[in-house]
Amino acid sequence: MYLGVDYYPEHWEKERWSVDADFMQKAGINVVRLAEFAWSKLEPEDDVYDFDWLDEVMDILNKRGAKVILCTPTAAPPIWLIEKHPDVLPLLRNGQRKAFGARRHYCITNRDYYYYSERIIKKLAEHYRDNPQVIGWQVDNEFGNPKCYCSSCRKEFQHWLKLRHKTLENLNQSWGNAFWSHDYTSWDQTPLPIVDHHNPAFDLDFRRFFSDVTVNYSNMQIKILKKASPEKFITHNFMGLFPDLNYYHLAEKYDFVSWDNYPQKLENRFHTALAHDVMRGLKKKNFWVMEEQCSYLTREDITATLSPGQMRLWTYQCYAHGAEAVVYFRWRACSFGMEQFCSGILQHDGTNKSISYKEAAQIGSEIHRIGPQFEGSRVVSPVAIIYDYDNIWANYSYQERPMYNYPDEILRFYKAIRKKGINVDIVKPTDELSKYKAVIAPLMYIVTDEAENNIKRYVEEGGIFIAGFRFGIKDIHSNMVKSVLPGKLKKLFGISIYTWDNLRGKKVEVKDDEGNIYQADTFADLITLKEAKPIAKYNSSWYTGHAAATVNTFGKGRAYYVGCGLPQSFYDRLIEKVLSPLILKSIKAPDEVEITTREEDNKRFIFIMNFSDKPSRIFLGEEYTELIKGKRLEGKIKLDPFEVLILERIGK
Ligand code: GAL
Ligand code: ZN
Repeated sequence: MYLGVDYYPEHWEKERWSVDADFMQKAGINVVRLAEFAWSKLEPEDDVYDFDWLDEVMDILNKRGAKVILCTPTAAPPIWLIEKHPDVLPLLRNGQRKAFGARRHYCITNRDYYYYSERIIKKLAEHYRDNPQVIGWQVDNEFGNPKCYCSSCRKEFQHWLKLRHKTLENLNQSWGNAFWSHDYTSWDQTPLPIVDHHNPAFDLDFRRFFSDVTVNYSNMQIKILKKASPEKFITHNFMGLFPDLNYYHLAEKYDFVSWDNYPQKLENRFHTALAHDVMRGLKKKNFWVMEEQCSYLTREDITATLSPGQMRLWTYQCYAHGAEAVVYFRWRACSFGMEQFCSGILQHDGTNKSISYKEAAQIGSEIHRIGPQFEGSRVVSPVAIIYDYDNIWANYSYQERPMYNYPDEILRFYKAIRKKGINVDIVKPTDELSKYKAVIAPLMYIVTDEAENNIKRYVEEGGIFIAGFRFGIKDIHSNMVKSVLPGKLKKLFGISIYTWDNLRGKKVEVKDDEGNIYQADTFADLITLKEAKPIAKYNSSWYTGHAAATVNTFGKGRAYYVGCGLPQSFYDRLIEKVLSPLILKSIKAPDEVEITTREEDNKRFIFIMNFSDKPSRIFLGEEYTELIKGKRLEGKIKLDPFEVLILERIGK
C-alpha cells in the first residue's frame, strides 16, 4: 500500500535531498508527489527545458524504493509566459486583471494557454513515459478558481449558450428575460454575470459553463498523458465539498479521484467523513488522498498544531471511507513563500524530531503491515444521499443563499446515520437506487424528468425515500415551478404545500407523534395532508394545523417529507426508527466514536475511531480480531484519546 508525501525538492539545496529521502524511507514513505508548481524550473525560458534536477532527485528517491507521481505544473504559469501573453491572466468579476504573483493566474479558455500547457505536458510525458518509477500523473492542482470574465470567456459562453438553447427565443424563455427588459435579439449581446442581482437562470447556466470549460481543459491534459503512457494512472486533486465544479463530470476521464483533505478541527469530523464519501461517490470507486493535513495550516489565521494522535486518526478515517493511499501535505515546512506557516511532516528545522514525523513513521509501520489486508476492499452502504451540482448551484441564487446551505442540510441526516455506524453512499439523482434501503434528498430544488421517474420507480418497488424541505420547487433553468409543491412528486409524498416561511429566528414549535417538542429552524414548508400521515406537526400560532413532517405509502415503499429544519435529535430519532434493521447491534459506542466498515468477499473490516481527546468506552458483543495490535477483543473496551481499532470479522 502507498503512503506518501508531497515534496518540493526545488525549495531545498541539492545536498539536502538524500537526507530527506533517507528520512522518508525510514518512515515508510514509498510514494512522493513532485513538480507540482515547478514550471519555472522545468521550462525556465520559452521552449528551453531543464529536467535534470528532477531526474536527479527522482534517482535519489528511487534508490530508497520510492515511486513518484508527477504533476503537470499548469497551476502556476511562469512570468515569461505571462509577459508574452498578458491575456492569460484572468479578468476578475470586478473588472480587475488578476496580477502575477500568486498562483492559478490563468484564464481557462485562453487558447495561448492551451498551447503552452500542451507543450510542457507533452515534453514531460515524453521524458518520463518509459520510466517505471513514475506510477502516475496528477493534472494541475485544485481546479476551480478563479472564474474568468474576459472577452474570450464571454465569446465561449455565447457559443455554449447557443449549443444549449439553440434559439434566442428558447434562451429568452428559459431565462425569463421578459423580466427587467432583458430580452436579447442577438447571441453576441448576452453578457457575463458581472453585476449583482442578476437572474438565477443566467447564473445557473454560467456555473454550468464554467464547469464545462474547466472539464475541457482538464480532459485536454488527460488525453496527452494517456496517449504517452497508457499504463500510468492519471488523477487530479479534488477538494471535497468544493461547490463550483461539477465534480461528477470532472472525474469522468480520470482513473480515480484523489483529494486534498484539511479537516482542521476535530469538530469537523462529519464534514470530513461526508467529503470522503462524496469523493468516493464521484466514480463509485476507492480514491486517494493526495494532500492530507499533517499539522497547522495557513488559513485566514494559523490553525492549531495537531495534538499527537490526531493526524493518525484522520489518516485512518481516510482508509475507513475508502482511501487506497494517503499522501501528506507537505514533506517539510518551507522557510519562504506564502505558506511558511503551513506545517510539514518535518518542521522548518529539518530534524526528524517533529510530532508529525514520529506519527508518520508509526503509521508507516502499521500500514505496511496491515494495509494489504483491507486494500481493495469496498465501502458498501445500505443508504444513499443525493448530491447534485445543479441543485447546489440553484441554491446559490442571490435571494436564498443566506437562508440555508446545501452541505449543512445534508449533514443533518448524514450525522444521524453515521452516528449509528451505517455507511452512506453519495449518488446522483439518476443513479440506480434499487440496492439502497433508503435514499435521502435534502434541498433537492430541481427534479428532472429522469430523476422523477427514477425516484418514483424506486419507491414503488419498495424503497424508502426521505426528502428535506424545498423539494422540487424549481425547473432545470432554476425557475420556480408553477404547480402546487412539492412539484412533480407531490403524489409520491401524498401532500400539498401552499404556504412556506423562511424562519429567520422565529420561534415555531413542532411536536412529533411521540409527543417530543422541538423548535423549528431555518425554513418551514406548511404541509397540507392528502394521502400522507403526519409524523410531526406545527404547534405555534398560524402554523398550527399544518404538518411539519409526513410519511406516505406509495407502491411497496414509503416517502417521507421533512418540511422544516429541526434539532439534531429529531433526525436521530427518525433515522433510528426508519433504519433500525440496519443498525449494527453487536457494537455499542458513544457519539464521539465513528464506526465505518469496508468489506471484501466474506470479510468485514470495522474501523472504530475515537474522535475525542478524552478516553472513551465501547462494548463489543462478539469476539473480533483487532488488526493493529493483533489481539482478540470482546466485551468492554477502553479507547484512548484518538485511538483507532480495526476489527476484522469473517462473515457478515
Ligand atoms: C491546498 C493546496 C496546497 C497548499 C495547501 C496548504 O489546498 O493544494 O498547494 O496550498 O492547501 O494548506
Ligand atoms: Zn477568460
